[in-house]
Amino acid sequence: MPSILQCIECAQQYPINRVIYTCEACGGLLDVKHDFRSPAAPITRELFDGRLGTFAAPYGSGVWRFKELVYPDVDDSKIVSRMEGNTNLYEMPRIAAFAGVDCLFLKHEGENPTGSFKDRGMTTGVTQAKVLDMQRVACASTGNTSASMASYAAYADMQGIVFLQNQQIAMGKLAQGIAYGATCIQINADFDRNMELVRQVSDRLGIYVLNSINPFRLEGQKSIMFEALQQLRWQAPDWIVVPGGNLGNSSAFGKGLLEMFEVGLIDRLPRLAIIQADGANPLYRHFRAGFKRFEPVNAQTIATAIKIGNPVNLQKAIRTLEWTSGVVEEVSDEEIMNAKAVIDGAGIGCEPASACSVAGARKLVEKGAIKPGDSVLGVLTGNVLKDPEATIGYHADQLAGIAPSYRNRVLQADDNLDEIIRLLE
Ligand code: F0G
Repeated sequence: MPSILQCIECAQQYPINRVIYTCEACGGLLDVKHDFRSPAAPITRELFDGRLGTFAAPYGSGVWRFKELVYPDVDDSKIVSRMEGNTNLYEMPRIAAFAGVDCLFLKHEGENPTGSFKDRGMTTGVTQAKVLDMQRVACASTGNTSASMASYAAYADMQGIVFLQNQQIAMGKLAQGIAYGATCIQINADFDRNMELVRQVSDRLGIYVLNSINPFRLEGQKSIMFEALQQLRWQAPDWIVVPGGNLGNSSAFGKGLLEMFEVGLIDRLPRLAIIQADGANPLYRHFRAGFKRFEPVNAQTIATAIKIGNPVNLQKAIRTLEWTSGVVEEVSDEEIMNAKAVIDGAGIGCEPASACSVAGARKLVEKGAIKPGDSVLGVLTGNVLKDPEATIGYHADQLAGIAPSYRNRVLQADDNLDEIIRLLE
């Protein structure tokens, strides 16, 4: 059976080549659904392990290595890939000790071509734009989606259009969008409003939206789980911990994990922990209140990547929490920045939002939800170079309301040998 789009609420189906992001019947979010039962090409660990180390496109990509699970029927000639994925899995005892567990793996998605996990969703999103013959693609962004989309659009000879919020976009991300040649519009509105605007403008002008409301984005992002589990020799950890903003990644993880379980690549499901900043915590509040009535929040956090108050993938994230017996936790900006300093100081490095994974794991251990003997996989979502201002502000102790516990002070010296030697002694 060919792949289709299907509403997660009312199961209404649509052909795969419709330009549609939500259900016309009920407004629900859409899934891309594939048929994994082809007897001609069984989906096995050996199939994916056999492609490791290949230079052949598209299977050398850490997304398209799993093509049968990502987009089986797409013609290879349409695939727009920058060989994304293939990111490292680090096991760092120092960071594990900080989190309070014996076994902590960190999957570093900041090692993707544009420095964040978004490239995994962009290769599939822009590929679908090409399948649909779209000339223009657009997104609202806190910075990483726009950096990634700008790159992939340019690479595929499409016009990228970026709706940026007027405040608090990290410098590295802003620079990338401009550098890759996207049309950048800085709008006097926050991310949540920009999300609405980009959909309305794109509807009017026939532009393809590449935010994570687009279900093809999530198909690519599932591969973070596929690749991490392959690196763990297909042995599921007890927990997977991930930051939550627009909740695309958490939603993709749930779908990917369930699919892996259903086709028999893994024999149990890990539990998912979604971590939000306490100033941008609508899912956390909703979770604590038993998912009764969702209320958006006015978001505020130093982790600007996840400064989101009304996440579009809410219903898919709730579904994921149900599938994986998941939990949601919140962490303060100070906890985020201190965890980041520990990750950075171990030589790994990440942007503020990414540090939620480690800060959140630590908090869940303190609360007894994660046991010290549990195995934990944390996802680092973005590169340390994305937000130099936050890093420098922390170490200079210039961030309001944040006491830096792991400061690395910059020493000052005159042009004087003795003085420099004295400093180093
Ligand atoms: N970490 C980083 C570094 C991000 O850039 C984002 C999202 C997230 C975590 C949260 O992921 O939205 O899937 O829950 N950044 C988006 C953007 C919103 O526009 O770049 P999510």
